[in-house]
Amino acid sequence: MSEEMLRLHELNVWYRTYGEGLGRRRRRQVLFDVSMEMRKGEILGLAGESGCGKSTLARTIMGTHRLYEGERFCADPHPQMVFQDPFSSLNPAKTIGWLLEEPLRVDPTRDYTPQERHDRAREMMAQIGLTESLMDRRPAELSGGQRQRVCIGAALMCAPGLLVADEPVSALDVTIQAQILELLKTLHQEMNLSILFISHDLRVIYNFCDRVLILQEGRIVEAGPCGQVYRDPQAEYTKKLLVASGIRT
Ligand SMILES: Nc1ncnc2c1ncn2[C@@H]1O[C@H](COP(=O)(O)OP(=O)(O)OP(=O)(O)O)[C@@H](O)[C@H]1O
Ligand SMILES: [Mg+2]
Repeated sequence: MSEEMLRLHELNVWYRTYGEGLGRRRRRQVLFDVSMEMRKGEILGLAGESGCGKSTLARTIMGTHRLYEGERFCADPHPQMVFQDPFSSLNPAKTIGWLLEEPLRVDPTRDYTPQERHDRAREMMAQIGLTESLMDRRPAELSGGQRQRVCIGAALMCAPGLLVADEPVSALDVTIQAQILELLKTLHQEMNLSILFISHDLRVIYNFCDRVLILQEGRIVEAGPCGQVYRDPQAEYTKKLLVASGIRT
């Protein structure tokens, strides 16, 4: 838990805007002076209301959103991401086995034989708690929870150091949520993963994360170990969120 996985320093992030008239600056800022770091093996929570910039921060960390200024360092050159909606992130035309093998087909760091890919996919099925017989099915033939297991498995096929999970359980029933969180916890231990866990649900964050960042309108207003932040929040906004989620009165 000591080596650095991720460091952002005074990160400012924009989106391009259109049709705001000539002469106006055609970009809108959504993140302001965001500084944070993550250690290897850490599970860091990121919370805040809808629209505050959580997914934008995730995309900037991933390297897929590039309209930013400031320092961005990630020790993992190929971080992976899991999304809220497990259905739209899986190609419906492909089998589960194919989907799990795909990251290995496009892995820039090494070549795999078809047999190696198949064996690795079978191993991953066991790791994500799915029976091998599901490998020949297509995403529509799985439950929501099973699909999210496949998304997590696909993200982990190339053994990333950093997993960014953007509301990974928000679309699932509460009992399925608990199972997926349990799976992520197990994989975190087995694979020595760092996880950035995004959720608007402060209860889930408390149960799952070591530390938490609170984002308000593009700014980090609070950061610290969950126990400390929940017991003794400093920012008014954090108190408001804790009340809204029924943790504080
Ligand atoms: N592709 C985009 N182009 C322009 N603006 C965007 C784009 N994506 C998001 N935004 C804007 O940036 C701000 C932050 O959005 P973001 O999706 O990061 O919020 P979020 O915290 O993930 O919200 P939610 O909890 O609803 O997922 C919002 O005002 C949103 O409208
Ligand atoms: Mg989002």
